Amino acid sequence: MTTPSPAGNLSFFKDLHPPQSHFREDVLNGLSKARKSIPPKHFYDARGSALFDDITGTEDYYVSRTELSILDTIADEIAAKAGSGAVVIEPGSGSSVKIDKLLSALDHPAAYIALDISKEHLIAACEDLAKRFDGLEVGAVCADFTQPVALDDLPIPQGKRLVFFPGSTIGNFEPGGAKALLETFHGWLRPGDALLIGADRVKSAEILENAYDDALGVTAAFNLNLLTRINRELNGTLDVDAFKHCATWNADLARVEMHLVAKRGTQFSVSGQDFQMKAGETIHTENSHKFTIPRFTALAASADLDVKQDWSDARGYFTLYWLERA
Ligand code: SAH
Ligand code: AVI
Repeated sequence: MTTPSPAGNLSFFKDLHPPQSHFREDVLNGLSKARKSIPPKHFYDARGSALFDDITGTEDYYVSRTELSILDTIADEIAAKAGSGAVVIEPGSGSSVKIDKLLSALDHPAAYIALDISKEHLIAACEDLAKRFDGLEVGAVCADFTQPVALDDLPIPQGKRLVFFPGSTIGNFEPGGAKALLETFHGWLRPGDALLIGADRVKSAEILENAYDDALGVTAAFNLNLLTRINRELNGTLDVDAFKHCATWNADLARVEMHLVAKRGTQFSVSGQDFQMKAGETIHTENSHKFTIPRFTALAASADLDVKQDWSDARGYFTLYWLERA
């Protein structure tokens, strides 16, 4: 059901949050594998979203700062391409920080629709944004964008759509998943609409590993919070202190991998199911793929999307791509 927002200043709020059984199944299946893994979308409970925001403020995590600096430089160009009255849709909107820059630059945007799996964070961010952009229609959809989301069932105004997918969240998917996600976004576009997507670039292992293991330990806390979430929501008995955060650059697969490593042998149960891990065994919690421009262009093409323009920072750390249906 589409409802008014809790604070009443959103045009609509649609709650399509996946049921708790989805989280339970992912965790139990992931922990039952020979190589344990849990999908990164489960990082984002309220605390996980707040910790991600803190990561973006660390010196080591250059990603958000760099993308914001590119957006500053190209805001007028983007505004000219988007035209007047654009409807901006942002999957994985988080704190909607980057959208401020975009919306401020656009000519009379008709609406902003945010879509995120982290419900409280989404509502708070959108209500805040609606206060800052008086008169803008702001809608929020709590959903998992890896599942079908029927945008046409939502009260989204007419107008040229700009789907904005910043942050290199595309990098959190393996190639098949990234293609499928781009195909989903392709399905949201009509002729004349566009997709603006940010993707992080391949660079030195040292810079990348520091970005995912920052000196303040915020990324470590973000990774370990997944275990706290499992304990709280799935009746888990994990000893969080028995694990440590680890981030390594996998050059062959062009990705930073985050793992939770068992510091010692440990036993625990989740939703009544027993597990044990040996010292050094890991739970693989995230991949952050990094792209060269040709590689990203090929990925886009595999989803029938053409890169019409791209913009990078002077160091070549990060690139924003303007994509249209091929
Ligand atoms: N776009 C923001 C936030 C990036 S963090 C930025 O660039 O800073 C990734 C965001 O995507 C988080 O807010 C997280 O809750 C959301 N997210 C991750 N996986 C998701 C999924 N499967 N469906 C919906 N939202 C998801
Ligand atoms: C959301 N996503 C693109 C971030 C990334 O860089 O992969 C999540 C993150 N993980 C550790 N630090 C940040």
